[in-house]
Amino acid sequence: MGFDQYHEPPEELPAATRTFARLCASLTEEAEAIGWYEQRLAVEADPDARAIMLDAQGEEFKHFAMDLEFLLRRTPKWREIARGVLFQPGDIVEHGESAEAAAGDEGGESDSSSTAADATGTLGIGGLRELAS
Ligand SMILES: [Fe+2]
Repeated sequence: MGFDQYHEPPEELPAATRTFARLCASLTEEAEAIGWYEQRLAVEADPDARAIMLDAQGEEFKHFAMDLEFLLRRTPKWREIARGVLFQPGDIVEHGESAEAAAGDEGGESDSSSTAADATGTLGIGGLRELAS
């Protein structure tokens, strides 16, 4: 436990990549917590217990949003695609396809100009692209 976010030897990963992986793991954990509170709230009848759980779930929403914002700031292509999908009315899948096309990611060809590596200026590999997808 605690090192599951790495798929490569941690000592070989640059510090920025380890930080990125940690925040990806945190994002996942916050999403899981949001889902757990949703299930608990669906079955809990005690109003005092529900109030506490609603408050706790709100904290998880905040944590998730902060993790996501950090990751998007470090990954320009991810941010560009997210901008085309998030908070947009209408068909989510259509927005996703359009945003992906606008980001030039239709062919799956690696474009190192828009990876987290370039955002930090400290990495020269495209491996973060897989972490971000
Ligand atoms: Fe949290």
